[in-house]
Amino acid sequence: MAARKIIIDTDPGQDDAVAILLALGSLEEVEVLGITAVAGNVPLPLTAKNARIVCELAGRPDVPVYAGCDAPLMRKLVTAEHVHGKTGLDGPAMPDPVTELQPEHAVDFIIETLRQEAAGTVTLCPLGPLTNIATAFQRAPDIIEKVQEIVLMGGAYFEVGNITPAAEFNIYVDPEAADIVLKSGARIVMMPLDVTHRALTTAPRVEAFRALGTEPGRMVAEWTDFFERFDKEKYGSQGAPLHDPCVIAYLIRPDLFEGRFINVEVETQSPLTLGMTVADYWRVTDRPANALFMQQIDAEAFFALLAERIARL
Ligand code: BDR
Ligand code: CA
Repeated sequence: MAARKIIIDTDPGQDDAVAILLALGSLEEVEVLGITAVAGNVPLPLTAKNARIVCELAGRPDVPVYAGCDAPLMRKLVTAEHVHGKTGLDGPAMPDPVTELQPEHAVDFIIETLRQEAAGTVTLCPLGPLTNIATAFQRAPDIIEKVQEIVLMGGAYFEVGNITPAAEFNIYVDPEAADIVLKSGARIVMMPLDVTHRALTTAPRVEAFRALGTEPGRMVAEWTDFFERFDKEKYGSQGAPLHDPCVIAYLIRPDLFEGRFINVEVETQSPLTLGMTVADYWRVTDRPANALFMQQIDAEAFFALLAERIARL
């Protein structure tokens, strides 16, 4: 089968970085047409820089990186340096990228790519706030029906929030953008915290990355060492979730995940629950289903897949 064409929309972030490496190590299954950076974990200049650092680490400076929106649609940007560090990729020392950003805006790249490629052949993989995707959909509604699928990391239901008691970070940062995407009519698969919190790092899982003996393997281990401390303190857990690689893993091994096709809507008004994803998991309303909302993951197989694919870089 031909590799699935994808655009990774991202705010790296250590876990975003691992997702990018997983994609670039999986050439048979996915072809990365481009990476579009968005403001999220850290401001846009850093996410656009980090995306290029990661491509170079993977030996793929040819992957085009585009800078996108530097702020949510209607709100002030909220960042997560408390999780990811000042650079967004804190942990190991990383060289500055030598590749240049593409001159085109990320939103233009998304629109043009979807218009140029055959309908139903490009999958969008948002790993951060949905600002770039929503802006593209607002500006060019004709592209919505051309999207093959949107597989995104965001939201939470049983796990409720990680940035507020009610909301997951990516959705909270730009709830209006999430609302536009969820109501777009595109096919959507969501990887919420309910999934990602079931696949935590453990010492053997991190050591498997280090034991690869490669630069990408060492970086993933050291990013994880840094990233883990926050969740261990917060949840008292043994390790941390690697949220964003779940999106790419789904493209390669959908059988590792289980969920339900249900109605998911976003709270955009209430100050108390802003950004909450209200998932009708028990189908207690007649609101139409709009997303395949995942709930289960085979964690052992997920980490084995990560190590196997990162070993190829
Ligand atoms: C999401 O927020 C970011 O901090 C991570 O990169 C991930 O995309 C998890 O809530
Ligand atoms: Ca992210």
